[in-house]
Amino acid sequence: MRKNIVAGNWKMNKNLQEGLALATELDGILKDKEINCDVVIGTPFIHLASVAAAIDTDKIGVSAQNCADKASGAYTGETSVEMIKSTGAAYVILGHSERREYYAETSEILNDKVTLTLEAGLTPIYCCGEALDIREAGTQNEFVINQLKETVFKLSEEDFKKVVIAYEPIWAIGTGVTASSDQAQEMHKALREAIAANYSAEVADETSILYGGSCKPSNAKELFANPDVDGGLIGGASLKAEDFVGIIDAF
Ligand code: 13P
Repeated sequence: MRKNIVAGNWKMNKNLQEGLALATELDGILKDKEINCDVVIGTPFIHLASVAAAIDTDKIGVSAQNCADKASGAYTGETSVEMIKSTGAAYVILGHSERREYYAETSEILNDKVTLTLEAGLTPIYCCGEALDIREAGTQNEFVINQLKETVFKLSEEDFKKVVIAYEPIWAIGTGVTASSDQAQEMHKALREAIAANYSAEVADETSILYGGSCKPSNAKELFANPDVDGGLIGGASLKAEDFVGIIDAF
């Protein structure tokens, strides 16, 4: 059975004290609350160990937002998957459009990062999504499916089954413009069909595909009601416990 997941991506926000305060506030709220999805928070590297130690990681999974494309060694300033794992984090967000665009992450680099993440026993939350010009040209499905073909579709079936996909149209990220419920469902359905074609209908049915891009408490219920939308990757609205819980409550 595929999982419903609400994952926060804090991006480069909150200093350590602020991040710890948010994580413990969330932990306190969710402690005795019945929730119908997995919850993950993606913090900056600096926060991972402190956050993981301060919360119940069985209830709230902790995620990095990136990892090095090398296992270890003389790579000044980089953070390896083993380091991430040693903090108690269980997930790594990979391929976010901001990393592809601002840090020139190519499919080749992402393949190395996905492989290292899986080898470390961590779960990749693998992002894909098209820019506005591609959406306007009407070629978004081919574009996004191709992003997967160049990367995670090269994995063995066994490995692919450990990957969470996040569809994040770039034009909807941080803009306040959400993909409509129909646009999200149409893309998620196309991605599930592509997964079925590349692996099998069974694998496609088991894959969690999250939506990201201006998802908030007021639109989460409608987005998550779609048969192929299995949750969200949340940016801005994950920075306030009340908003994030409002999205979790959409399930
Ligand atoms: P916003 O929710 O702020 O639009 O960001 C989405 C996102 O990029 C999550 O990874």
